Amino acid sequence: MRTLIFILCALVASLQTGFGSTDSQDGLETGVDVSHLPFTAAALRALMSEWQSPPPSWGTTDDPCETPWEGVSCKDSRVTILKLSTMGIKGTLSADIGTLSELTILILAGCSFNGSIPDELGSLQNLSYLALNSNQFTGKIPSSMGKLSNLYWFDIADNQISGPLPVSNEREPGLDLLHQAKHFHFNKNNLSGSIPEKLFHLNMTLFHVIFDGNTLTGRIPDSICLVRTIMVL
Ligand SMILES: *[C@@H]1O[C@H](CO)[C@@H](O)[C@H](O)[C@H]1NC(C)=O
Ligand SMILES: *[C@@H]1O[C@H](CO)[C@@H](O)[C@H](O)[C@H]1NC(C)=O
Ligand SMILES: *[C@@H]1O[C@H](CO)[C@@H](O)[C@H](O)[C@H]1NC(C)=O
Ligand SMILES: *[C@@H]1O[C@H](CO)[C@@H](O)[C@H](O)[C@H]1NC(C)=O
Repeated sequence: MRTLIFILCALVASLQTGFGSTDSQDGLETGVDVSHLPFTAAALRALMSEWQSPPPSWGTTDDPCETPWEGVSCKDSRVTILKLSTMGIKGTLSADIGTLSELTILILAGCSFNGSIPDELGSLQNLSYLALNSNQFTGKIPSSMGKLSNLYWFDIADNQISGPLPVSNEREPGLDLLHQAKHFHFNKNNLSGSIPEKLFHLNMTLFHVIFDGNTLTGRIPDSICLVRTIMVL
């Protein structure tokens, strides 16, 4: 683990900002709507079909919300939280994850997931917390991640993710659009290329940006000083 470099240009400003406030949001209507039930169960079963060692309770009942399958939390019969960490799950994360449209928190840390991060994660508009750290994910950071406009926490540390840090252009979104993000934990991967100048700008509200343990080249762009909230880089 390398030492963290404190960025003096931003430190003073950051100390004045509130540090621990999460904007967890949950705006779903009350009134139970069970019409999504078969759909929810089907989506989870589809995910599970790609896993060699799913949690034991998965698939044992018809309704993953009523007698909750391990790590599953629901609201109005829709999955809002999926929290499966250090459970020894092996396998890939299939595109079906994109159908859990009410998901706000997705934690798949410390398991043995491999394969790539599916583009479809980018369609989870309500996602605020994404932790895929300490697995064996490969492939690139999908540019579709840039569509997660409510994302607060983005942790993909300790995988084998390669390629560049994607920033937006005329055709595709990128990480520079994640204005709500406070945490970028990208350390211990195989990311390459330079850190794009465009990644940092006035509208970013990042606290922690962790890049060490990659093969990134070049210098840290001066634009980092525009991010007034930053505490640790
Ligand atoms: C996300 O949350 C908002 C309220 O914050 C809600 O209106 C919306 O239906 C939710 N689902 C999606 C897919 O955006
Ligand atoms: C994931 O790992 C298993 C071995 O545990 C391997 O058979 C499979 O091909 C890998 N899948 C991908 C997409 O890398
Ligand atoms: C790391 O990325 C480079 C390309 O930048 C690639 O050639 C190499 O195979 C990757 N290594 C692993 C372990 O994924
Ligand atoms: C920052 O926000 C302002 C006001 O919403 C907007 O006009 C500007 O285009 C944004 N800049 C970037 C780089 O996103």
